[in-house]
Amino acid sequence: MPNAPKPGFSYDGKTLTADGLPLPKLAERFGTPLYVYSGPLLRENFHRVRRPFASADPMVAYSVKANSNLAVLDLLHREGAWFDIVSGGELKRVLKAGIPAERAIFAGVGKSAEEMRAALRAGVMEFNLESEQEAERLADVARSLRRRADVAIRINPNVDARTHKYITTGKTENKFGVPLKRALRLARRIAEEMPALNLAGVHCHIGSQILDSSIHPNVVAAVMAFVDEVERETGAKLETLNFGGGYGIAYERGQKPLDLRPFARALLPELKRRGLRLILEPGRSIAAAAGLLLSRVEYVKPGDAKTFVILDASMTELLRPALYRAHHEILPVEKRAMPSGLVDFVGPVCETGDFLALDRESFIPSEGGLVAVMDAGAYGFVMASNYNTRPMAAEVLVDGGEAHLVRKRQTLNDLLRLESIPGVRDGAKGA
Ligand code: LLP
Repeated sequence: MPNAPKPGFSYDGKTLTADGLPLPKLAERFGTPLYVYSGPLLRENFHRVRRPFASADPMVAYSVKANSNLAVLDLLHREGAWFDIVSGGELKRVLKAGIPAERAIFAGVGKSAEEMRAALRAGVMEFNLESEQEAERLADVARSLRRRADVAIRINPNVDARTHKYITTGKTENKFGVPLKRALRLARRIAEEMPALNLAGVHCHIGSQILDSSIHPNVVAAVMAFVDEVERETGAKLETLNFGGGYGIAYERGQKPLDLRPFARALLPELKRRGLRLILEPGRSIAAAAGLLLSRVEYVKPGDAKTFVILDASMTELLRPALYRAHHEILPVEKRAMPSGLVDFVGPVCETGDFLALDRESFIPSEGGLVAVMDAGAYGFVMASNYNTRPMAAEVLVDGGEAHLVRKRQTLNDLLRLESIPGVRDGAKGA
């Protein structure tokens, strides 16, 4: 196609569009706050992450927690994704999206017996184990169902991923994974004492939003040494090596997304030599840039030190700025001559931590105007809450040149449906 536009969000003249569809039209049609995803960009991102590892035919297991909308799961399934799930709820979503359970890998530090049962019955591909206690529980559950579970031990290699401390997972002080010495003991126990478990692989995920391209290559040797040791000590032949996700994206101007090539260069020959199948678990690098949060300006409130732009979106739609002080670019949906200055973009929630951007040198939109909070496609909607009794936003997927409502806006009745007042018929007194 000559001059095919780049997939995703770009200005057509002065108006920001989602794959050519003007965002003001979407705001009118679906209301705000609104999550808007680009199907073409989701696809492009999936293949961009896969490409450096393509010669190993990796299983790219999209990390469902990043954006679990059924339409997103379906789209990625069609591209050939596998799925990394961390709860019975995510398993249900994958199944609801028509994805066979064999394409799902079940991870997480706190799997309940019930979740294990559901996953075993459905037939997930593999469980990532995070402790000896969990291995014992899974062995019990598998035995009672007369099944055998394929497992990988998640190791904690004690490395610093140099990212936000809430999303660092590969250090001794983090709750995730099994320290190497214990992991070897666990491998031996599984091989010798737990016939209901089949030790199939090793798993390692050291953190999220990693931007330093030397971090992943630096753990390759330690992980491989562990694989060799397990094979030597247990006589087992491992089949899979799961290296997790965590590939950072450029949220801020001037940042560069993680370059995956050094990682692929370090990893692929080692895999080949051992005949291991590679599993990767990217979430953010596929979904983040493929989504934005569209919001309308309720008020522009001048202050003595700065201007407060009060949006109809808040920490209940996008928690990342409040929780991690994360940076998201905020763009005007209609470019026009606007004043500029020091701005806090905040929401209506009664909480000082309710901001989407703080002390930002920015355009100052006017009341009723629209802004786009960028890179909100991962860890956006999925972390939403109903705080202040705010209904959850709608989600739209733009694909094939059309906007599809892939999650309706929650209504106040939806939100209140599960509550009741004791002794009152129908649970509530008023309308
Ligand atoms: N695999 C495992 C075992 C994980 O724990 C995670 C993320 C991933 C894969 C996917 O990581 P990604 O490729 O998306 O970086 N809410 C935080 C991020 C939490 C990440 C949790 N685990 C945020 O908004 O930055």
